[in-house]
Amino acid sequence: MTKASFVDESYLPNVKTWSEYYRAKVGFRNYWYAACLSTEIADGDWLARTILGEEILFRRINGKVHAIKDRCIHRGVKLSNRVECHTDSTITCWWHGFTFRWTDGAVTNIVGAPESKLIGRAKIKVYPVDEAQGMVFVFIGDPGIDVPPLSNHVPPMFLDEGRVIEGEVLVVESNWRLGPEGGLDEIHRYLHRTSTLLLETKATMPLGYRGAKTQCEIVDGEAWPKGIIDRFASDTMYFEVDIDTAPGAVTGVRFADTGTKKKRTVATSSWLPGVLRVEGFPEDGGCFFEFYVPINETQHRCFMMISQTCRTPQEAAQFRSRYKTRWRRYAVQNFLRQDVDARESAGRFYQHDRAWIEEILTEEDYMIIEWRKLSSRHSKGVQTPDHIA
Ligand code: FES
Ligand SMILES: [Fe+2]
Repeated sequence: MTKASFVDESYLPNVKTWSEYYRAKVGFRNYWYAACLSTEIADGDWLARTILGEEILFRRINGKVHAIKDRCIHRGVKLSNRVECHTDSTITCWWHGFTFRWTDGAVTNIVGAPESKLIGRAKIKVYPVDEAQGMVFVFIGDPGIDVPPLSNHVPPMFLDEGRVIEGEVLVVESNWRLGPEGGLDEIHRYLHRTSTLLLETKATMPLGYRGAKTQCEIVDGEAWPKGIIDRFASDTMYFEVDIDTAPGAVTGVRFADTGTKKKRTVATSSWLPGVLRVEGFPEDGGCFFEFYVPINETQHRCFMMISQTCRTPQEAAQFRSRYKTRWRRYAVQNFLRQDVDARESAGRFYQHDRAWIEEILTEEDYMIIEWRKLSSRHSKGVQTPDHIA
């Protein structure tokens, strides 16, 4: 018998306004999720991935990526343990030879039992796949559900024409929910005070911000995508903070805006089902997207994608060159890695369900709670152990 839930449901009364989010430890169902970069799966190649706990096998055939459940319907072996594609359009299970068509999952033949009545009747689960901006997406949903367009489940601007995207993928040792929360975490900029990105770009980075409530824009109308935008107000930054209020104490943290550094407009936002967008990062006119895709209860796959809209091939080439020489090093491998370190460290705490009750948030963590409520309001189902079994 499997468990009905990934979480300790006795805590549900403590998280009334965002109980679905609390329950979505392994993600929300009925959303599109990033599966891999297009470059990770060349024509004819296959790739096995665990997404929201579901084991999925991908293959690119004549340019188009297909996805099926990575478990034979006959006696349950993993097809990816030994991939055998005897024709372009099929995969044959390596144990008894059940053969499935990639496009619809139909059993087209059984090598050891070619007269079986199962042929043409039985099916393996297939997943809807889409590909855009150099990334492959898969829809993790319930049978029979109307599959919405990919544009509903990626941040606005991501699919913009002319957007050129470069990035890296990383497996992060933390629950996925710490990802989108980081984008709305008003006071975490303190973490980045040592980043070499700040030296490189001469950008200003305060210790923290005030005014989470007034800066929070909830995008929650009829239309999709849905998310929360944090519009930082430049007059609510902290650059100097005393860290001891005892009489006579002179200790303090100084990270003053000396006036020599450049101020830039940045707006961060988090979008369902768990994607960060940062406008103006890491360079003016640029836009950063980070996809947090649940693997299981304690790991997520993080797609760190830096982009720029380019009008000509020359602009695109210049952007790709800047990515290679600057942004990969200073943004992906330094600045963003600081967030990954924090997620992995906190991940050990948040793997216990009681952490979601024991955390002590500040007023400026307002948007994190709004994000949890928004996600809960629009839940179309959470992943449970039964979906994976
Ligand atoms: S387990 Fe796959 S054919 Fe038997
Ligand atoms: Fe950060």
